[in-house]
Amino acid sequence: MNDLPRDPLVALPRDRLVALLREMPKAELHIHIEGSLEPELIFKLAQRNGVALAYPNVEALRAAYAFSDLQSFLDIYYAGASVLLKEADFFEMAWAYFERAAADNVVHAELFFDPQTHTARGVAIEDVIVGLAHACRRAHAELGISASLILCFLRHLSEDAAFATLEQALPYRDHFIGVGLDSSERGHPPEKFARVFARCRELGLHVVAHAGEEGPPAYIWNALDVLKVERIDHGVRCVEDPALVQRLAAERMPLTVCPLSNVRLRVYGSMAEHALPALLDAGLCVVLNSDDPAYFGGYINENFVAAFEALPQLDARHAYTLARNSFEASFAPAADKQRWRRELDAVFTRLAG
Ligand code: ADE
Ligand code: ZN
Repeated sequence: MNDLPRDPLVALPRDRLVALLREMPKAELHIHIEGSLEPELIFKLAQRNGVALAYPNVEALRAAYAFSDLQSFLDIYYAGASVLLKEADFFEMAWAYFERAAADNVVHAELFFDPQTHTARGVAIEDVIVGLAHACRRAHAELGISASLILCFLRHLSEDAAFATLEQALPYRDHFIGVGLDSSERGHPPEKFARVFARCRELGLHVVAHAGEEGPPAYIWNALDVLKVERIDHGVRCVEDPALVQRLAAERMPLTVCPLSNVRLRVYGSMAEHALPALLDAGLCVVLNSDDPAYFGGYINENFVAAFEALPQLDARHAYTLARNSFEASFAPAADKQRWRRELDAVFTRLAG
């Protein structure tokens, strides 16, 4: 046995594995752009827009980022987003994210945004969408990142409110590729949004939904069967239901998993307890993402590094699988997916040679 040559990807020293995680091209498919709003930018925009904050300074705000569950985070996240008023604010927030993403070798990003969080404060949906779309175009032109937008409905609000938001957004239909479902999961099952998702599918929009983050496996089943989603956001609680895991694997249904988020929101007691290795072992199409990087301690590369450092059973083969999955699960054109896959293969071939 000992004479067999070891797979160079398995034998890669941990420091080189970390460098590889950072260097490899990847797509980010689960990032709430409002969750990329760093405390420094929150204070800058608050001052510019004359918005009063409940915290005296950046340090005090950051110190409040100790969450006990999803809701305790959302309360602070929505308060942070209250500084966004003008088109230029949305542009600036997204541009700051793209600069960080470029440094992490993100080549494609699909950004969630929450229009209802802003329209409820009197912000025009046009300013939200046009500001974000401008940043996406510039990311492509100047950073080489292909980027698109996914409009999320807030699930703690009604389906009628989601329909009204869809109507307001439709004049800007060319600026977003799909819809998602986020905010407080427990008590707001996917089927609450059956009709509006059916309408979105009719309109040719892509459909995704958060399910199985805090909510039970039944929410994942219903996201699949009722909403007919193309990806599940989070989905980690599928491990509680073997029949569900089997189905997700058979359909190659992507799960956009966010390790630092799951630890910060206490889905897991520690990163060492994360289900990521089990999900990968089950053959699921797992993609790693940052969720709300300004709040959870890091952007996409920090998520990769934190997960691989805490989970020693993960090696360079898993890194390759995760990056490849990120392209496969994206809504990008097939030609782009192929190109990124070739770039990924080139990085790994260099390594193994
Ligand atoms: N909105 C922003 N981040 C979220 C998360 N992790 N779950 C649900 N809704 C969110
Ligand atoms: Zn999320």
